[in-house]
Amino acid sequence: TRKIIIDTDPGQDDAVAILLALASPEEIELLGITCVAGNVPLDLTTRNARMVCELAGRGDVKVFAGCDRPLGRDLVTAEHVHGKTGLDGPTLPEPQMTLQDGHAVEFLIETLRTEPTGTVTLVPIGPLTNIATAFKTAPDVIEKVQEIVLMGGAYFAVGNVTPAAEFNIYVDPQAAEVVFTSGVALTVMPLDVTHQVLVTQERNAAIRALGTPVAEAVAQMTEFFERYDREKYGSEGAPLHDPCTIAYLIRPDLFAGRHVNVEIETTSELTLGMTVADWWGVTDRAPNAQFMGSVNADGFFSLLTERLARL
Ligand code: BDR
Ligand code: CA
Repeated sequence: TRKIIIDTDPGQDDAVAILLALASPEEIELLGITCVAGNVPLDLTTRNARMVCELAGRGDVKVFAGCDRPLGRDLVTAEHVHGKTGLDGPTLPEPQMTLQDGHAVEFLIETLRTEPTGTVTLVPIGPLTNIATAFKTAPDVIEKVQEIVLMGGAYFAVGNVTPAAEFNIYVDPQAAEVVFTSGVALTVMPLDVTHQVLVTQERNAAIRALGTPVAEAVAQMTEFFERYDREKYGSEGAPLHDPCTIAYLIRPDLFAGRHVNVEIETTSELTLGMTVADWWGVTDRAPNAQFMGSVNADGFFSLLTERLARL
């Protein structure tokens, strides 16, 4: 079992990632969820994270509020993709469970200090503000992290928020730079991979056919989320970006990639937030990330559907 903390800005795809983790207790022990501003402001991401836990019948999960804005710029949000609430699609009840006391960054630091070294994996699926703040505030915790498995960036697929940048990295490039230069073992799920796991109508029908409230809510989330990609890119379904991280922790064999150097652009106006990945090894810069390039999409959806059936 891997002990993980999910750092998130839900987001329909974030919601599916949380559900996949909660459905997989043999492989994953979820120590807590830390929320960050991203797809929508912090008050909504903290609300949405709790709604998703309650949807899974897990009002006991620890949910923390974290940073409400990026390290050095104004917050950019993505209501045009995720809807006004960030979790448009299903009608879910307002959360009853309360947020934990204390800041998400304190929880990250405390947990990493308390748990044995090398036993906690961080799974950031939003802007990297909380993780970077923890590393800057308490550099001693950096070496305690087992691994970071994050969704962010792009190589061949390049940007989805600007021509050059992927949303999570673009929103807080300075935070991304802190994480990518931290020395922690990094596994990255860029758009190149996440645009290979598309919820087609057939795949959504298979999820809906599970016939549970969780499955119905997921089907409605991906239906909402899909519209953007279909209209914008003519895509045949919603890319399930964030669940790639959790699927990787359960079934790493579904993914393939390369250990490469990745640098973050933090100054250029034109390419701010670009992940400059040396896929072809044309520099002598040291590799700092396992950058994924492909995924077995059918294997991913069998796993997801089988796991959602458990909730
Ligand atoms: C990422 O940005 C958000 O909109 C999604 O939740 C995902 O984490 C994709 O670029
Ligand atoms: Ca996200």
